[in-house]
Amino acid sequence: MTKNKKLLAWVDEVAKMTQPDKIHWCDGSEEENNMLIKGYVDSGVFTPIPKRPNSYWVVSDPKDVARVEDRTYICSEKEIDAGPTNHWMDPKEMKGILTGLFTGCMKGRTMYVIPFSMGPLGSKISHIGIEITDSPYVVINMRIMTRMGKAVLDVLGDGEFVPCLHSIGYPLTDGKKDVAWPCNETKYICHFPEERAIWSFGSGYGGNALLGKKCFALRIASVLAHDEGWLAEHMLILGLTPPNGEKKYIAAAFPSACGKTNLAMLTPSIPGWKVETVGDDIAWMKFGEDGRLYAINPEYGFFGVAPGTSMKTNANAMLSCESNSIFTNVAFTDDGDVWWEGMTDEKPAHLIDWNKNDWTPESGKPSSHPNSRFTAPAKQCPVIDAAWEDPKGVPISAFFFGGRRGSFVPLINEAYDWNHGVYMGSACASETTAAAAGAVGTLRHDPFAMLPFCGYNMGDYFKHWIEIGKKSSPDKLPKIFFVNWFRKNEAGKFIWPGYGDNIRALKWAIERVNGTGKFVDTPIGRLPEANAIDMDGLDISADDFKKLFEIKKEDGLAEVAEMREYYKKFGDRLPKELSVELDKIEERLKK
Ligand code: GTP
Ligand code: SPV
Ligand code: MN
Repeated sequence: MTKNKKLLAWVDEVAKMTQPDKIHWCDGSEEENNMLIKGYVDSGVFTPIPKRPNSYWVVSDPKDVARVEDRTYICSEKEIDAGPTNHWMDPKEMKGILTGLFTGCMKGRTMYVIPFSMGPLGSKISHIGIEITDSPYVVINMRIMTRMGKAVLDVLGDGEFVPCLHSIGYPLTDGKKDVAWPCNETKYICHFPEERAIWSFGSGYGGNALLGKKCFALRIASVLAHDEGWLAEHMLILGLTPPNGEKKYIAAAFPSACGKTNLAMLTPSIPGWKVETVGDDIAWMKFGEDGRLYAINPEYGFFGVAPGTSMKTNANAMLSCESNSIFTNVAFTDDGDVWWEGMTDEKPAHLIDWNKNDWTPESGKPSSHPNSRFTAPAKQCPVIDAAWEDPKGVPISAFFFGGRRGSFVPLINEAYDWNHGVYMGSACASETTAAAAGAVGTLRHDPFAMLPFCGYNMGDYFKHWIEIGKKSSPDKLPKIFFVNWFRKNEAGKFIWPGYGDNIRALKWAIERVNGTGKFVDTPIGRLPEANAIDMDGLDISADDFKKLFEIKKEDGLAEVAEMREYYKKFGDRLPKELSVELDKIEERLKK
């Protein structure tokens, strides 16, 4: 156990408020994990997957399937510090509401105390959190997603931690029987940036409940990063080795369900190139003494989108979840495996779908929820990078921003300099996906792929990026690129094959980092010269390929006008450097 006074007092205080039957301090052991899993198997909540050792199938309440952005709050002391892109409530008012909801909310249940480390245990870049939860599903998943258990308490000692309070909000009072996926219709995902605390109520799913991930490693960590001069980003990290062996690391920010996991472990379609994975969702980056940015992956596992994942599109993800994994909201096959849309070309003749109903290809609806996911240990990834747990992190040579854009945005575009790159990050927009509750396919601004994850005023966040660019010299800062795998033709089909062929864009980017890649300067950025992208073995017509890079002047001017309007949102928190970039783009377009 621990002697940490603040921790003991907090656990005591929470127990008094939530009134659980029992308190369980998680040690992270296999016995503990087996005990929790056995409980779920005995009650029928988890189904063992015969084809995958130590792996389980579980389905959620159909109303608790994704992050709930409209119930997510940044409760800073001042409203302006949450900014125009976050929901805000006064911290005292919110604590009042939450205290009401949390009072007695764990009655009839066990309260679990989960010590976890984001980042390698004991690394200077790492941070410790303690999640209190009444969901064994959360404990089991946190054990895959974070370094968790007794060893964390040993490292914590008397030190600081981020308190992360979670409840599914389903007390077992007055003889009420438990259900397979308890949750509450009322949901609140709340962050208190000054206090560095998280309170989450009512949901058991993903980022709403596994509080180390989006709540801590992005929303709270982005505040720490802003105050301390580093970066906490919604980025994958990968190592890229060309045939000449000169390995470089890159980091890429795409919105939720827009291709991070896929890019992080891609199987290159060009011979001789190798991709190795450091992380697939979150990067924490600090300057090294050499003036370069070094990145660590604060996580320990992957919480990856299942649909679309196959041996063809992402073999390494498939191999990562062959054992010791949890599958949530996918379908179950008659021969004892899981299945989801896109896993195989041929659909199984019969399945149990994610609502536990019989399913056949004639059912006319997907067998798996579009935001169904696998939770898999990162170390099981066949191409996990040798340095993925290096406490120093890996040096980053290039940043990529992107999103789902059916039109206008070219396959790859290089920023002229750091501030132009920051403009590009701020101008990210993407069609919404099933990763968050709400409409799918509507284009919205998602600056730096951080719209749902920035824990403070987005204008200040833009400024922070501008400031980071002043801390080092251009030759040491990562080069910045914008990519788009999702451009469509008139028939509404993706023009670019994507996945393993994305290496072709990365190859040109690495050539640009090395100063060799051929380019043409355009009003919106530096594009590859015709033939500068390696097209060997790629089946795409010259006409289609040209479309991937088409920029019409009127589209460019429309984007400028739209961005000008968007920037008004940020008032005087918008760094003037970004308005300058917009002016420059407009001038170049009008020339
Ligand atoms: P989060 O975990 O929500 O942050 O998502 P992510 O950014 O890691 O996205 P992921 O790699 O899981 O991809 C989401 C969906 O996009 C999956 O269905 C993929 O199959 C699909 N996808 C990924 N890369 C590509 C690509 O290059 N082209 C196309 N057309 N689809 C892609
Ligand atoms: C995302 O939505 O970006 C995810 C999944 O990575 S969740 O953990 O639910 O946030
Ligand atoms: Mn994500």
